[in-house]
Amino acid sequence: MTTLTKEQMYDDIRRWKKEKNAVILAHYYQVGDIQDIADYVGDSLALAQKASQTDADIIVFCGVHFMAETAKLLSPQKKVLLPVMEAGCFMANMMDEAAIKKYREENPDTVILMYVNSTANCKQYADVCVTSSNALKIIDYYAKQGKKMLYGPDKNLGNYAMHKSNIKMDLWHGFCGIHNGLKPSDVEVAKKKYPNALFVAHPECNLDVLALADYVGSTKQLIEYVTASDAKEFIIGTEVGVIHEMEKRNPGKKFYILSDRLKCFEMKLTRLEDLYNCLKDETNEIEISKEVSEKAVKCVNKMLEFSK
Ligand code: 13P
Ligand code: SF4
Repeated sequence: MTTLTKEQMYDDIRRWKKEKNAVILAHYYQVGDIQDIADYVGDSLALAQKASQTDADIIVFCGVHFMAETAKLLSPQKKVLLPVMEAGCFMANMMDEAAIKKYREENPDTVILMYVNSTANCKQYADVCVTSSNALKIIDYYAKQGKKMLYGPDKNLGNYAMHKSNIKMDLWHGFCGIHNGLKPSDVEVAKKKYPNALFVAHPECNLDVLALADYVGSTKQLIEYVTASDAKEFIIGTEVGVIHEMEKRNPGKKFYILSDRLKCFEMKLTRLEDLYNCLKDETNEIEISKEVSEKAVKCVNKMLEFSK
């Protein structure tokens, strides 16, 4: 337990970053104090791109385990640190390596599209990785080639893509407990309360909730949409952390979280103090065996080629 103030911690963090040639990457779902000291805040795709481009020696990844793993896959020679090792992802844990390995063996001709919210062990069996910001484009590409496809672990993003592109894929039965819990009735109640607000949602929500949205996109895309929009009020259908950046970019606009349940427990495990201690002591290093890393990185690189 530290007795330092936020500003004192920020000063030390800034100094250590220079001394150690470290970079801090943070996801939009992190607490505001961490987003404010990060060198870069982004969605899963933007953070993976940053991790592949940085010339820092140390990456401190403020997010959840699969995100730090992706950074390590892309920068195996760098030290990648995750301030709280227990910060996992409910959805990533819903795909188990033995099951996807079996699927791969039984379906050698199927293109396996792996949502980035998955472990490196599972990514070994995928043909291409996708995130919420490029899934539709990549799925469309394979659909146009007439390929048989499996998408997982997120059934909701998979259903949304099938609906938008009018295609069929096999779906894994995974979901995000936070987004999946939203109901159309939550949206109806919020729309009655805020009749002038637009509703924006993350594609990890169920299709019946997405059908009511004015815009669907990744965390970064939602932030860009509300910033570009002429509307002044928005109902937010994703994790509450995005509102920090929305408010920073849009001082005159109002943002209402769709439900108090939209809080990712795993993302919120990391406190400023954890980032402070992690950078100070260089603890919690992500390690992936060479064998897994060499196989798993292929699908992530393939995704980055699509996103240039
Ligand atoms: P983004 O790719 O939109 O950042 O989403 C990550 C995530 O975990 C959403 O729940
Ligand atoms: Fe995983 Fe859901 Fe948290 Fe995103 S919000 S990191 S999908 S548990």
